[in-house]
Amino acid sequence: MTSDSNPRTIVLDGETVAFERGETLFEIAQRHRRDVPSLCYDDRLDPFGGCRLCIVQLEGARKPVASCTTKAEPGMRVTTHNATLDMHRRVILEMVASENRDVDVDELSGYASQEMSTLLDRYDARSGRFDGAHSGTSRPDDGNPFILRDYDNCISCYRCVRVCAEQEGDYAISVMNRGFDTQITTEFGGFLEDSSCTFCGQCVQTCPTGALGDIKALRAKDVPEPVEKTRSVCPYCGVGCAVDILSKGDKVVGIQPAMDGPANEGALCVKGQFAFDFVHHPDRLKTPFVRNDHGQLVPASWDEALDKAAAGLLEAVNEHGRHSLYAVASGRAPNEAGYLMQKFVRAGLGTSYIDNCSRA
Ligand code: SF4
Ligand code: SF4
Ligand code: FES
Repeated sequence: MTSDSNPRTIVLDGETVAFERGETLFEIAQRHRRDVPSLCYDDRLDPFGGCRLCIVQLEGARKPVASCTTKAEPGMRVTTHNATLDMHRRVILEMVASENRDVDVDELSGYASQEMSTLLDRYDARSGRFDGAHSGTSRPDDGNPFILRDYDNCISCYRCVRVCAEQEGDYAISVMNRGFDTQITTEFGGFLEDSSCTFCGQCVQTCPTGALGDIKALRAKDVPEPVEKTRSVCPYCGVGCAVDILSKGDKVVGIQPAMDGPANEGALCVKGQFAFDFVHHPDRLKTPFVRNDHGQLVPASWDEALDKAAAGLLEAVNEHGRHSLYAVASGRAPNEAGYLMQKFVRAGLGTSYIDNCSRA
């Protein structure tokens, strides 16, 4: 509780604003629509305070402070933008960018992959005036099919390591060494497939530089059409993770998690993240098939196929009873189709033997 003489307020850019116990200056600034830049911040993770881009000026403090790790105290007077802060931020960005082989990566690399290049433009920080040692060595030898490990573009923000630990609980990746020898790695420096990585793609989607990239989506980087995002729901299981389907022209080229998805808050599993090739797979059925008198599957009309299925079900019920039937609904079907399926089985066939394949 705060007393009337000590209300829980700070002065933010001259405006008195209230805050909740434990809130950081960055959270308060975001809530009040101050556009404080950040690189190592992901609001799903514990603040890290590594990049210093979120610095603000605190009245009475000798130097700017990192707003993402500074908890608000009643009476603080905070400035989020002025020429000095902008100058500091520009220099920080110039130094960070000097470490990377590329600062412009394809937007298909990952959800946050444009964060650094966007900030470089915003702060006019592409001077290239700093040069020198680089940290992070890429692992092109890691032949996993999902995650590009291009650490020559790494800025050591540790978002990947933290999301793997804090969100996924997998602890598949970690940090080795310090300073310019810093390297994101797995245990014993091995390949991701030999680590505890589940290929959820969380590290890819939070990386602000594209150092970790979505190999499957990047297959389409040279397709000329623009990337379109369509909000949808993962078709694999009952959790209902929200996704943004990436498409170019009429082709699905990738999946990104919806950071505001109520069920998943930016998380996906390997299926929702990477298993979308079935959409355009040449083996995908486009017409019903029925078996002919020789037992071969041949294309048929819907009427033919439904008549044949009805006759087969009826024959099974007449011969073996209604409980001889067992239905498995597709985990890729929408809720409405799942509801109709159980209704058909329970009310139409008279058995409760129905399940679905969404348990993996
Ligand atoms: S894909 Fe998932 S489990 Fe693997 S390293 Fe990235 S966050 Fe960790
Ligand atoms: S790989 Fe990406 S997320 Fe991980 S530390 Fe490097 S820049 Fe940050
Ligand atoms: S966002 Fe605060 S230090 Fe990186």
